Amino acid sequence: MPADIQPAYRQASQPIEARVADLLGRMTLEEKIDQLHQCGIGDTNPNNLAARADEFRATYGSFIIGGPAETVLATRNAFQRHAVADSRLGIPALFGADVIHGYRTITPIPLAQACSWNPELVRQGCALAAAEAKAHGIDWTFAPMVDHCVDPRWGRIAETFGESPFASAIFSAAAVRGFQGEAFGGPGSIAACLKHYVGYGASEGGRDYVYTEISSQTMWEMHLPAFEAGVRAGARTLMSAFNDLNGTPASANAYTLNEILRRRWGFAGPVVSDWNSVLQLIRQGFAADGAEAAAKALNAGVDIDMADGLYRQHIAAQVATGRVQLATVDEAVRRVLRLKFELGLFEHPYTEAGVLTAAAPGATPLALAEELAGGSIVLLKNHGALPLVASAKRIALLGPLASNGGALLGCWTQQGKAAETPSIADALKERLPPGATLRVEPGCSIHSAATDDLTPAITAARESDLVILCVGEDAGMSGENASRTTLKLAGRQEELVQAVAATGKPIVLVIISGRPIEIQAYVEKMNAIIAAWAGGSRAAAALADILLGRRNPSGRLAITWPRTTGQIPLYHNTRPRARPGDEGEYRDAPTTPLYEFAYGLSYTTFTYSALRLDRAEVKAGDTLIAEVTVANTGPREGCETVFWFIRDPAASITRPLQELKHFEQARLAPGASRVFRFEVVPRRDLSFPDADGRRILEPGAIILTAGRSSATFSVVP
Ligand code: NOJ
Repeated sequence: MPADIQPAYRQASQPIEARVADLLGRMTLEEKIDQLHQCGIGDTNPNNLAARADEFRATYGSFIIGGPAETVLATRNAFQRHAVADSRLGIPALFGADVIHGYRTITPIPLAQACSWNPELVRQGCALAAAEAKAHGIDWTFAPMVDHCVDPRWGRIAETFGESPFASAIFSAAAVRGFQGEAFGGPGSIAACLKHYVGYGASEGGRDYVYTEISSQTMWEMHLPAFEAGVRAGARTLMSAFNDLNGTPASANAYTLNEILRRRWGFAGPVVSDWNSVLQLIRQGFAADGAEAAAKALNAGVDIDMADGLYRQHIAAQVATGRVQLATVDEAVRRVLRLKFELGLFEHPYTEAGVLTAAAPGATPLALAEELAGGSIVLLKNHGALPLVASAKRIALLGPLASNGGALLGCWTQQGKAAETPSIADALKERLPPGATLRVEPGCSIHSAATDDLTPAITAARESDLVILCVGEDAGMSGENASRTTLKLAGRQEELVQAVAATGKPIVLVIISGRPIEIQAYVEKMNAIIAAWAGGSRAAAALADILLGRRNPSGRLAITWPRTTGQIPLYHNTRPRARPGDEGEYRDAPTTPLYEFAYGLSYTTFTYSALRLDRAEVKAGDTLIAEVTVANTGPREGCETVFWFIRDPAASITRPLQELKHFEQARLAPGASRVFRFEVVPRRDLSFPDADGRRILEPGAIILTAGRSSATFSVVP
């Protein structure tokens, strides 16, 4: 080959597969294994190491990058220069980060985003996060997290899209499209990573990193759909989970990885382990040592070893002994290289400073964050206290979350800055109507503090017309390794709520949290209750607008809100129990939730017509049209989400009491009405999986519900 001709892998005009094959053919085994190694750089993530590029091998495949915004770009480019210039083949590295709900601009936690029921806005939020992250040199986000969880004691429930597998699948696809963009690798596009595959959300007792017992039926119905939807939406990568899944840890599970993900779904991208999850196979009792752990993980379909370095240490020897086939290594490397070519890293390995792509035309980042935060807020109770009336002149803003902007950011905040995030007090002060006053008192801290003095807050309540009481969780109380045994408020917050309630003043309770909170001890005493979650950079502005009636709340719960912690697990799509009436009910508390899945109030009212069906019987190949007319019968414009549930009352495998199958949202002017339609496609909407994932469509009755309207039709052969 003449000296001036580039090898095929360097020629952008060559098809990607040809470039991959050419490059792979030139690599030594050691270079290949290095491509499967990932470690942390940068210095803010406690997982990561402060390091200089030349302390690392130039052939490492990927890095998790953290650190202050000012240094991330320089760190990335320094490490990239090392990879490209100091290695024999000049293979660029990949830089990943946990861009979960925003990078610089923070959008609400995913659980809150799901309560917006607005996948398009969720897509735009992810596109914004991708654009900001990419501008800082990040090629790959470890998101979306699409785990299924019905136990709010688990801190990571904040990172889920709620308890409906159908909704999680919709949001999974929307997030993938947002992060990856229309043209993968183009401006503002980064690789998405569906995690944690699979079953991590079933962690026993809501504890983290523990065993998960998931029946095959539940696996196919509840845990796999959001992953499948993300794969179908084109997610380029997946992360294998920490959990021991029925005795075979998810990071060495050939059935879920090689069989379901790759063979059945045709997923072609790389799977990265979770942090040390290959090493953890030893602790979990699935491997005797690092060599066995590495071999089992790679053979099961985990391509990239995050953090623990076991592939680097052991895979070469495992290939020599035949416990790992060279073909398996080659296939894993092919997946990594393909991703790098697709991302355009060989042509554009470096990130130029200042390249920031607009996420959505006309939407400035903060306006988008505010829109999503506003849509996520759920009004749980309103006995006339909201929106704040003009007669409420003296307002007491109480509670440990009243002046805490940082708590609004939630878990995984990347470059979001607590100091520059307006608190609820800041936002209310800015918007207070003329003549109104705001008195701010924390009352207590979030966590127990012996020195807390509740008196100033109680005095402020007494001397006010109305109290806005902001309680809940700080950012560290949800997310990874943030399990709790109770959903009750921490510290002396409940005492504060009770003491303020004893003043007899009207109270608007604002809950900032990453999970539902147990409020039953005082729910009756509250005049209004708002679930504001951790709403991100603009949470306070959106909330203040709702309090003052400048925005009409439209969020609906994506998760069931229990009365007590002891009711967990409590979820809408459970199966019917064997006996009716009060048989099987708790003897010491109601069995029903405090607020049901899909519940949420508005400042206006909506009325549903009877449900109309275009036919009484439907065949597999037909489409049944169901319609309901919804009217805004209240005083102001509002946004309504219509949820369509099915119930299959008799089937060869019992079916849940309710299964969400479609939802649609529309804004309605006062007096206006709109027809909402669900086109029921039997194979898509009425079939269900068996314990091995085969879909079954059976003849028989189906009950369809929208709001309180329902109708029955039959599936016929
Ligand atoms: C561990 C977490 O489980 C995972 O979600 C995250 O992406 C990695 N650490 C990397 O930070």
